[in-house]
Amino acid sequence: MVMKNPWLDIPLEDYEGHMALPQVAQAQMLAQVFEDALNRYLPASVAVLGCAGGNGFDRIPSATTHRVVGIDLHPAYVRRARERYHGRIPGLQLLAGDALAADLVFPPVRLVFAGLFFEYVDLAAALSRIRRCMLSPGGMLVSVVQLPSARVPEVTPSPYTRLGTLAAVMRLVSPDGLAKLAADNDFSLIEDRTVVAGGGKRFQVQDFRLASNGPQQQRR
Ligand SMILES: C[S@@+](CC[C@H](N)C(=O)[O-])C[C@H]1O[C@@H](n2cnc3c(N)ncnc32)[C@H](O)[C@@H]1O
Repeated sequence: MVMKNPWLDIPLEDYEGHMALPQVAQAQMLAQVFEDALNRYLPASVAVLGCAGGNGFDRIPSATTHRVVGIDLHPAYVRRARERYHGRIPGLQLLAGDALAADLVFPPVRLVFAGLFFEYVDLAAALSRIRRCMLSPGGMLVSVVQLPSARVPEVTPSPYTRLGTLAAVMRLVSPDGLAKLAADNDFSLIEDRTVVAGGGKRFQVQDFRLASNGPQQQRR
């Protein structure tokens, strides 16, 4: 029997309420890292994996970024992002579904943003799909992963108790392991830094560039 993904039982209000709590403060951190990446790499097109309700979309500079793809597993999150940003962001394409599914396709972009996304998917499959189907040669992948903490549980306790179910599917991703797998997929690590959210949790931000000759060859 296929287990239902626990994300599908979490209302967006709960997720966003949790992420904005002062003791969590991860929505602001993710939006800031996204904005910094857009300003640094000036991509003409961007895809946001696990975009939820469009956190950070209000910071997309339409002068430089002309096409935006947002993908999330949860159809209600995507609907809300559409209500918020349809008509406000030129070239916006919002897709509901598993970002790694073969039938979820869009024209390749110049920057893929994966903010607290790799924790919830098969990392090797995700990197391979990003390389083969999502990024154009020479494009950037910017990833944010959560670092282990001796003090705070992986999902910070909060009044939004439904988020507790995510602990069953969330797996911390080691930045070194991510960098190794990324290298296997023709990505070079060009920037690596730690950021601390207002709530005190630490996160690793890694910027990778895909080889400019693109996917070398089909891998198994
Ligand atoms: C921790 S949240 C990160 C959200 C967002 N980046 C932000 O700034 O708030 C992870 C998101 O990934 C989505 N997600 C989980 N697995 C997914 C998958 N296989 N494909 C697409 N989205 C997925 C969840 O629904 C959730 O919205």
